[in-house]
Amino acid sequence: MKTAASILRPEPGTISPTAPASMAYNFLFLLSCIAVVSSSSHAYVYPPLVEGLSFTFYKSTCPDLESIVRSYLKQLFQSDISVASGLLRLHFHDCFVQGCDGSILLDGSFGGPSEKDAPPNLTLRPAAFKAIDELQTLITQACGPVVSCADIAALAARDSVRSTGGPKYKVPLGRRDGLSYATEEDVLSFLPSPTSNVTALIDVFTELDLTIKDLVTLSGAHTIGIAHCSSFEDRLFPTQDSTLDPIFAEKLYLTCPALNSTNTTVIDIRTPNTFDNKYFVDLLHREGLFTSDQGLYDDSRTKPFVIVFALCQRMFFENFVYSMTKMGQLSVLTGSQGDIRRNCSALNSNLSWYAVDGDGHDGKVF
Ligand code: HEM
Repeated sequence: MKTAASILRPEPGTISPTAPASMAYNFLFLLSCIAVVSSSSHAYVYPPLVEGLSFTFYKSTCPDLESIVRSYLKQLFQSDISVASGLLRLHFHDCFVQGCDGSILLDGSFGGPSEKDAPPNLTLRPAAFKAIDELQTLITQACGPVVSCADIAALAARDSVRSTGGPKYKVPLGRRDGLSYATEEDVLSFLPSPTSNVTALIDVFTELDLTIKDLVTLSGAHTIGIAHCSSFEDRLFPTQDSTLDPIFAEKLYLTCPALNSTNTTVIDIRTPNTFDNKYFVDLLHREGLFTSDQGLYDDSRTKPFVIVFALCQRMFFENFVYSMTKMGQLSVLTGSQGDIRRNCSALNSNLSWYAVDGDGHDGKVF
């Protein structure tokens, strides 16, 4: 049998799907979680970095990058903390479709509707896009056009997690921006629907080389933020989903009294603005909002992870850092691939107001 200490590590596959079967085991596990918390130095374990990315990528070209992002977001979150969940989701939607290349930030053009116009992206928050644009302006003023929009989005997601109470972790940098956006078909096939069952979720994650544990861990991002009735009304109409807690369902009917309501509600009913492990506690009480959330507690492949994270926040945080870093490196462009966009919402080739050098990629704004 695995020891409790061995299942605490965030490396892939170190939680046994059958491990937390008994009360005795859970008790032992909880004790070990508490013990590790008190002795921990909070040094997180990271997956291998993709070649071309590093934790010190802008050390000489933009040494104040992280403090610019931090202080801008600190001020923004003081007036509206809800942008944090918007920024976290923005990074996820960027990475899952065509890799973390900032393509989600591009506006449509005469070439057709952009990635951002595809249905799953219509509920991304305008305030999150605005924050990335404003950050880019500040960063370009300080360092010149050297930092990619994809990196700004990754840093903003990290600071959103931290600012709402989540783990403080490092982000590998050096992503380059994509030169095109994805089609609606790609968006629909790589961004799972909230009505998905666990098999469908696992299929999408597997396609991206992400594990079942990554799926459960990253779903924990639903510890902050809101959702529209349209994302879960299938659980209320025409009949109530039997896996919903009846009292929780009553509350949802108050927010979404009929089909097609445009109202919104928080995803994690316990601590909606705090990044913690209460989302997993919600699932244990059948108070998960989406079919894709609640299903994680009902499927034997994912349930053990849900239980472990509900019992041990530290374990969730450690795995979240690991899985987020994996997600943040999906199909990244590095080196001379892609470019550094002058304006996060437009391709450099569509900007007529700047001059570029020979290869059309790395010129300076004059
Ligand atoms: C596992 C599959 C996932 C599905 C099916 C899913 C689906 C959704 C849906 C439907 C919404 C609400 C949209 C709305 O109605 O406004 C939402 C919100 C959110 N999602 Fe996910 N999601 C998934 C994974 C993730 C991941 C991996 C992350 C980040 C790492 C994430 C972060 C968020 C956040 C922070 C919100 C709240 C956004 C806000 O407040 O504006 N989700 N998700």
